[in-house]
Amino acid sequence: MTGRFVTFEGIDGAGKSTHIDWYVERLRTRGIDVVQTREPGGSDLAETLRELLLRRKMGMQAELLLMFAARSDHLERQIRPALAGGQWVVCDRFTDSTWAYQGSGRGAPGERIAWLESWVHGVLQPDRSYLFDLAPELAARRRASVRAPDRFESEDSAFFERVRRGYRDRAQADPGRFVVLDGERAVSEIRVILEEDIADLCNT
Ligand code: ADP
Ligand code: TYD
Repeated sequence: MTGRFVTFEGIDGAGKSTHIDWYVERLRTRGIDVVQTREPGGSDLAETLRELLLRRKMGMQAELLLMFAARSDHLERQIRPALAGGQWVVCDRFTDSTWAYQGSGRGAPGERIAWLESWVHGVLQPDRSYLFDLAPELAARRRASVRAPDRFESEDSAFFERVRRGYRDRAQADPGRFVVLDGERAVSEIRVILEEDIADLCNT
């Protein structure tokens, strides 16, 4: 059986962290060998860059380049070797986050993102991406109840509206890869959909 590359996406507070550990456990219960990882981060160098990205003030261009620098190291050291060895990779955020946050959110030009994506990924793309979709006001209320905001989470609701729209456009353009999950639904209902999708992924 070959590995699969699965990503979790959505605006901050939409519900990714609530489901990702559970999802990985469900795969392991089926006997699947899974590497769970995240972006920005997932390798030593990328985790160091994550600290800078989440804390330090910087311009849009530096932010975009550092995201892809982190991704390049992460791909080389973690993601590609795992997939090559037949493992599944479940990653909390990947390049759809860059399209949504740096592209739609910050206004980075799409052709630059596309160029960096093709340089850093080659032909690799996720097999499945779950988009947790939620209104920014509700997501902000939810995350405010559990943690202090980082640099991205401190952005205003107009920023997160653009990010949300960016994600929805990505999902609409690639319906075969994306599963869009309504973040307003109960956790248990979302898990039913995820469980069904795991079965589909295992059978394809
Ligand atoms: P993310 O990882 O996408 O930033 P979290 O999973 O940390 O979001 O969720 C943010 C908050 O919202 C947490 O307190 C979590 O318990 C709550 N939450 C997540 N999903 C739901 C849901 N479907 N219904 C109600 N509350 C939820
Ligand atoms: P995340 O790990 O989801 O934060 P938390 O642990 O607080 O839930 O993501 C960190 C932030 O990085 C998030 O606000 C989105 C941002 N980000 C981008 O802007 N572009 C990217 O390409 C990636 C991967 C993340």
